[in-house]
Amino acid sequence: MSVETGDEFVDGAPDAIRARLALALDFDDIVEALRVARVMRPWFGVAKVGLELFSAAGPEAIEALIDEGYSVFADLKLLDIPTTVNKAARVMGSLGATYLTVHARAGVDHLAAGVEGFATGATMAGLALPICLGITVLTSEQADPGSLESRVRFAVEAGCGGVVCAASDLGAVRALGPDLLTVVPGIRPAGVGADDQARPATPQEAVTAGAGLLVIGRAVTHASDPVLAASGIARAVSSAS
Ligand code: C5P
Repeated sequence: MSVETGDEFVDGAPDAIRARLALALDFDDIVEALRVARVMRPWFGVAKVGLELFSAAGPEAIEALIDEGYSVFADLKLLDIPTTVNKAARVMGSLGATYLTVHARAGVDHLAAGVEGFATGATMAGLALPICLGITVLTSEQADPGSLESRVRFAVEAGCGGVVCAASDLGAVRALGPDLLTVVPGIRPAGVGADDQARPATPQEAVTAGAGLLVIGRAVTHASDPVLAASGIARAVSSAS
């Protein structure tokens, strides 16, 4: 239950704000990941499981985070032949993940295989339709604007529910796919170091530019006071919305 009293957001964020905040649990240890997830639950509605945690704990990580009340974002960045992507996506759907990432650069067939598999897995398990996300341009990649455009078009054509993109690409993405959910990593409150993020944005900048879901990792998990950092980000998202 969120509390919006005199000291707004200190005890938690409203559900509408939590639903837009994804906590990146970039740990190689399920015990540590769950400890952080439990502390951060009042501010985050989505838990992101990346390759590191999935390599360490596999499906157990997905199931444990669902049990904690999170929507799970399986950030596996799938890139393989369409049949393999389809089957892996089906497994993730059946496990109850709400979001799954697939690389958009591989093209429409590949993305469509992910969309179909993810939906089928969820449907077979009696779960709500999940959202397959196309990864547009990694911040470590040297990609031209043409690549961004073609990848967003692939995602739309394949039936992806959203894309992952940098805040600086939100204008172009929204023009090409106005109905796509936009998922934005690289969030850094003013004054917090960028680490290895090449194109960071503040929470306010990302929301103002149209971000749907903000991915927050080290700005909270490496903060000297993670609760203070989380409440500040939730407050910033609320005031910019
Ligand atoms: O930087 P932060 O810890 O907030 O990272 C959150 C997520 O952003 C990571 O889990 C990763 O998926 C993504 N990331 C990225 N580009 C980088 C570094 C991380 O998109 N250079």
